Amino acid sequence: MRNVKGPFKKYKSYPTVDILGRTWPDKVIKQAPTWCSVDLRDGNQALSAPMGILEKMEMFDLLVAIGFKEIEVGFPSAASTEYDFVRKLIEEERIPVDVTIQVITQARENLIRSTFESLKGSRRAIVHLYNSTSAIQRQVVFGKTKKDIIKIATDAAKIMSVLKKESGNSGIRFQYSPESFHATELGFALDICHAVMDVWKPTRSDKVILNLPATVEMGTPNIYADRIEWFRRHVRNRETVILSVHTHNDRSTGVAAAEFAVMAGAERVEGSLFGNGERTGNMDIVTMALNMFSQGVDPRLDFSDINHIRDVYSRCTGMEVHPRHPYAGELVFTAFSGSHQDAINKGLKAMEGSRSPHWNVPYLPIDPKDIGRSYESIIRINSQSGKGGVAYILENDWGIRIPKEMQRDFAKVVQSRTEKTGKELSSVDIRDCFDEEYLEGTGPYVLSPCVIHTGDGGKDDTTVSTVIRNDQTETRIEAKGNGPVDAFVNGIREGLGISLDVVMYEEHARSKGAGADAIAYIGIKEGSGPISFGAGVDANISQASLKAVISALNRGHAWRK
Ligand code: KIV
Ligand code: ZN
Repeated sequence: MRNVKGPFKKYKSYPTVDILGRTWPDKVIKQAPTWCSVDLRDGNQALSAPMGILEKMEMFDLLVAIGFKEIEVGFPSAASTEYDFVRKLIEEERIPVDVTIQVITQARENLIRSTFESLKGSRRAIVHLYNSTSAIQRQVVFGKTKKDIIKIATDAAKIMSVLKKESGNSGIRFQYSPESFHATELGFALDICHAVMDVWKPTRSDKVILNLPATVEMGTPNIYADRIEWFRRHVRNRETVILSVHTHNDRSTGVAAAEFAVMAGAERVEGSLFGNGERTGNMDIVTMALNMFSQGVDPRLDFSDINHIRDVYSRCTGMEVHPRHPYAGELVFTAFSGSHQDAINKGLKAMEGSRSPHWNVPYLPIDPKDIGRSYESIIRINSQSGKGGVAYILENDWGIRIPKEMQRDFAKVVQSRTEKTGKELSSVDIRDCFDEEYLEGTGPYVLSPCVIHTGDGGKDDTTVSTVIRNDQTETRIEAKGNGPVDAFVNGIREGLGISLDVVMYEEHARSKGAGADAIAYIGIKEGSGPISFGAGVDANISQASLKAVISALNRGHAWRK
């Protein structure tokens, strides 16, 4: 049998790093890195319709509100919108004092000059220089030697030093990225970074940012971490360097690569909201930050209103957030399977009664409330749902605490409804389903107003007088018993000749839904038949209990037909 489905031999494995005694696998992330958002540059340049100035401004304000202190705002030498946006930010004093904007430039003199011009009057800024360093880019794209590539970087670095001096702005800092670091020989990446450092001469108080991008993710995240640990160990004058990482998501492990890189010593992380960016996107900062949050580490970014962030993001970029996106996706706090619903229901209940300060609910890695999402949307009901989820919605949304014995009965009702319609049921649909099934029965037995007399608490102290209609027949009930239900059931046995036993009864006051009233649930058995459940609602609990008996009687009758 031929099991080769494609020409996989065309591809080779990504090289590993020869590193002895790697330390990163034992590290735990205990504090947030410095975050730098690249939404307005890397994210924006990957949009089919890039943001205009208005959208860029809305996005910038959002990023500031989330708490980013470093924001790459664009490529000012590449397009007039980009240039104008930087000018607008500076001239209209839109940049908060604790926020530093970053602008990117290729290593070409005219572009560097216009980048510096765009920054006139800025209090602080990072100028981000990059050139591509990988073997494939050197040989095939540029046709240049390693020496030529280093010269491109150092010539540009020299111009930047001169322009910074001329600007007299000591708030300007420098960042260098050996673009395509992921496919650059580690030794060469180090050499070119050292060459740039030799020009810029960073100090402890004026550090250089060395940003090592996985421009295209090509290997497992552990290899990226090895590369970062290797670089950290070998870089000269480490105390003058801020080690930054910038991962993309081509293998869907951009977040993992950045997390491992932080464990390997990276102090700064570049990425974008919801992973927007070239091809499969940049590293998703929302996920990485909330992953940290879920481990009890302050991410120093505020995602407490994730729905708002998602809305602004979608409006500005025209991109949707995937329904299964971690934390922000529409479906991620929704359980469809019955066993999940049941476990969530029990977990939430246990949390309410628990004194532990720590969140621990099955299937919910964080409390949805912490990011502005609500419990209401946690459980949605479809044909795969079980009794736990249905019971949770009834209790949580409508104050109907359906007894355990009755939950399976109602879940079957809901399931047959969802199977019939093929649709998911909303909370209101479930409530309607409950009402139609138990409270709004249309017969055959119809209860007339009842008079209930309760005596002194002795044996058979309660009398129930009423009339039950069944088609054209009216049966007068006048019976005694231990409480209203017992008296009424005695009356039914005598008057209607039905042999009836009560096997379950519960009642409670309702605080949610339509005003304050009482609800009674009952399970009855006729002879050796199955249990028939019913429910009744009334302002008076005794009346509610009699309605519940009639409801159960009618449901039993409907089955037997
Ligand atoms: O992905 C990349 O390599 C980049 C650099 C310009 C930092 O975006
Ligand atoms: Zn990038």
